Amino acid sequence: MVQSSEHDPLTVFESWLTEAYLQELTDPNAMAIATVSPQGHPSVRNVLLKHWSREEGLIFCTSSNSKKAKHLEQNKHVALLFYWKSLYRQISMEGTVQPTDRETSEHLFAIRPRESQLTTYVSKQSQPMESPLVFDTHLEKARSTLKNDSIPCPEHWSGYQFSPHTIEFWVGQPYRRHQRTLYTKDAHSQQWSQSFLHP
Ligand SMILES: Cc1cc2nc3c(=O)[nH]c(=O)nc-3n(C[C@H](O)[C@H](O)[C@H](O)COP(=O)(O)O)c2cc1C
Repeated sequence: MVQSSEHDPLTVFESWLTEAYLQELTDPNAMAIATVSPQGHPSVRNVLLKHWSREEGLIFCTSSNSKKAKHLEQNKHVALLFYWKSLYRQISMEGTVQPTDRETSEHLFAIRPRESQLTTYVSKQSQPMESPLVFDTHLEKARSTLKNDSIPCPEHWSGYQFSPHTIEFWVGQPYRRHQRTLYTKDAHSQQWSQSFLHP
């Protein structure tokens, strides 16, 4: 079934993201992602949206050793937030996350700048570190060992794909008269329905 753009939140998302790339000076693709620990404790941090499509959802990359990935192993439900200050717009989503296949993870690693690959290769993300100086020493050691060889995608580096089931668009307006449009996906029909929320 073809949906009109008014009832298709992903069309709206695409156009807002395009505008953000034109307006937002730094990291227009930054999104805060909140996960929950097995004990029920939430935590939140930014990641970069690396790729998105209707079929694959929103894809980011991180280490499977990181705190967020450990949470995701136990609880795939997350909340995700874009805030573009220059546009005075916010998109908040709720949904589920699963790791991408290995081929996708390796592709996303391969297209990163070499220096970012090197950092990822050396980093034990979210583990305690002796000191920034020791980390630099490990970086230099890896640089001289690898020389000009291509840097392999570490086993722990993975793409993660997020599939939303609710998406709320928020447009800031004077005097708190903000516009809030909520889209909810029906689990059975997979169709989105639209409603409005008080500001
Ligand atoms: C703008 C911005 C973008 C970031 N992008 C990523 C990213 O794409 N992947 C990532 O693992 N960490 C990214 N980080 C670092 C994370 O916020 C976080 O420090 C790291 O992933 C460890 O999080 P955790 O210990 O909660 O798992 C980014 C930070 C900022 C401020």
